[in-house]
Amino acid sequence: MTRSRYQEPIVVRKDLDFGLDQDDIPRYWLGGNPFRTRLFDAVQATFPDGERYFISSVRNFRERISNSTLLKAVKDFTMQEGQHGQVHTQFNERLRRQGINIDAFVRHTKRMCDGRLENYSAEYNVALTAALEHFTAMMADLFFAEKEMLEGADPRVRAMLAWHAIEEMEHKSVAYDVMQQVAGVGYLTRVAAMTHATGSFTLFTLVAPWYMLGMDGFSVSERIKLYRENLAWLAGPRKGMLGRLLPMIASYYRPGFHPEHLPSVHNYSAWLEAFERTGDTLVAAEAMYAAAA
Ligand SMILES: [Fe+2]
Ligand SMILES: [Fe+2]
Repeated sequence: MTRSRYQEPIVVRKDLDFGLDQDDIPRYWLGGNPFRTRLFDAVQATFPDGERYFISSVRNFRERISNSTLLKAVKDFTMQEGQHGQVHTQFNERLRRQGINIDAFVRHTKRMCDGRLENYSAEYNVALTAALEHFTAMMADLFFAEKEMLEGADPRVRAMLAWHAIEEMEHKSVAYDVMQQVAGVGYLTRVAAMTHATGSFTLFTLVAPWYMLGMDGFSVSERIKLYRENLAWLAGPRKGMLGRLLPMIASYYRPGFHPEHLPSVHNYSAWLEAFERTGDTLVAAEAMYAAAA
């Protein structure tokens, strides 16, 4: 059976201003909910170093890429990730001003990424990168296909997430193609890396908000209460984050899987059209959010 292919062009967008240094962005920007906000904050805190790791893993194979289309895609992927790193570093500075020990999160990520580059083969690292890129490529669907996940979010933070999600979707195949076509990684290594990535991502997503909420001054019993109150949002089988993620993760285990088999999120064109018309990421994100189901 031949599957349809969905691949958007990779567009490098630079010097974007989301207004992340503005002081009126609420501390708990996601509907005033500390747990949901800190979950996003903690995951995004890993992005600058995580994305540097992705770039290094892919670049390890650059000399061996002979296909000019793939070479150009790698260049654009690197530039998009570089921009993401800059913006998320800005967001990390916001968290630092709130009294969050952001260095502890950054140190942890950097140590983990450096350790992987040092201890694993280049092939396994690019397989891990392809797996983690599958997670970031799912962001658009997970957070923007429907209104529910980001209900009540501050428009500036939502705009940052929308832009990042859009670009992750645009370059969803790059690490995968390098892994498959250049590094020659086969099925077993690919799915082993996905299992590894899923485990470490899930563990971090569960544990990191606990620490960040502690830095906010929530006691242990208050934190347990916050986790309990948000359990359905986090792990609900149908509408929760995990429930939505599982089928998308499962698709990666299919032999013959390719990221291009996954359709672009239905409101991608709403973002793109508004951005091309106005050059404003806030307007684009609001158009995308308005078009969400
Ligand atoms: Fe990124
Ligand atoms: Fe990416």
